[in-house]
Amino acid sequence: MPLLKVRKIRTFTLLFCVITFTTFLFSYTFRDPSLYFFKYAFRLSDNFFSKGLCACRQCIAELEDDPWFAERFNQSIHPLMTRENSALSDETFKWWQWLQSERQPANFSEVVEELFQVIPDEVLYMDASPERCRTCAVVGNSGNLKGSHYGGLIDSSDFIIRMNQAPTTGFEEDVGSRTTHHVMYPESAIDLDNITSLVLIPFKTLDLQWIISALTTGTIKHTYLPVMSRIKANKDKVLIYSPTFFKYVYESWLDSHGRYPSTGFLSLLLAVHICDEVSVFGFGADQYGNWHHYWEENHLAGAFRHTGVHDGDYEYNVTLLLADKHKIRMFKGR
Ligand SMILES: *[C@@H]1O[C@H](CO)[C@@H](O)[C@H](O)[C@H]1NC(C)=O
Ligand SMILES: *[C@@H]1O[C@H](CO)[C@@H](O)[C@H](O)[C@H]1NC(C)=O
Ligand SMILES: *[C@@H]1O[C@H](CO)[C@@H](O)[C@H](O)[C@H]1NC(C)=O
Ligand SMILES: *[C@@H]1O[C@H](CO)[C@@H](O)[C@H](O)[C@H]1NC(C)=O
Repeated sequence: MPLLKVRKIRTFTLLFCVITFTTFLFSYTFRDPSLYFFKYAFRLSDNFFSKGLCACRQCIAELEDDPWFAERFNQSIHPLMTRENSALSDETFKWWQWLQSERQPANFSEVVEELFQVIPDEVLYMDASPERCRTCAVVGNSGNLKGSHYGGLIDSSDFIIRMNQAPTTGFEEDVGSRTTHHVMYPESAIDLDNITSLVLIPFKTLDLQWIISALTTGTIKHTYLPVMSRIKANKDKVLIYSPTFFKYVYESWLDSHGRYPSTGFLSLLLAVHICDEVSVFGFGADQYGNWHHYWEENHLAGAFRHTGVHDGDYEYNVTLLLADKHKIRMFKGR
């Protein structure tokens, strides 16, 4: 073929393509410009904010933005115990039994079986999706909550997680009044209303026997300390913190610092796993460096940070690091 003809064909083809494309784009835009704009805006926001993992502005489970977080976060370990995940590896069982060793522990699998005849056996909160935006407030017990006026902010969250002896009555202005989850162990237990989930952290087989007893017969009155023999709580909402998850928090997040993690740190990691957005209140010291509880008058009362069981400094460092990396929001009070 003569060179000129080839060029003509090429030019024609190119022109044809350009015209087709422009016509298509124009008619599309013209027919429904809002749709075009919407699509464009959606793409943009998708890329800049959620990347589609959840419907919040930022999703905690997003791993791409931080290698430190990605290395530690393991979503395949479920924070709550079910019949199915209740069997512990030998290594986990040994570690868990060593926390508060018992002289003659009952048969673990038999106790678990009995437990799930009293409380529900459900897989909860593993419903992450691009449509879900679950906001959570983890409320620690620090005196830095006093005079903070965080009550409204805390109460506006979907989940509000409190721990141990934490009262709300009389402190609503600073700590809020709603509680969806109350994390405790037998020796730190308090009565709850019937809309709050009791989240039990078991440290020994006896703790699982205790919750069964406290919700039914009331026969167990003593562990290594006297404990409440009966507890007011909705037994259809009782949840058990998984020993496997407990060990994962200790090893992956605390690098095995301290003897085991504090209730506060365990509650924080529970939230990191079941929520899309986590706000943290009442962690750390107050403005004077005191470590008391918000309901205690005496600033010197709470020397609990230095018990030697928990590495409070290391836990606090990891918590601050999570905040630095925009995984959680820290509200430091006063
Ligand atoms: C996450 O945990 C599971 C179960 O323990 C384990 O098999 C897997 O290797 C872990 N993944 C990472 C990335 O550590
Ligand atoms: C615990 O009980 C189960 C079921 O009754 C039994 O198969 C298992 O051998 C027992 N374990 C121990 C350590 O006794
Ligand atoms: C919770 O308790 C209130 C009264 O204290 C009662 O009216 C209500 O039915 C209870 N709800 C559930 C789910 O048990
Ligand atoms: C906490 O972080 C500070 C500052 O990065 C560091 O100096 C300190 O040693 C850390 N403490 C612990 C217990 O890791």
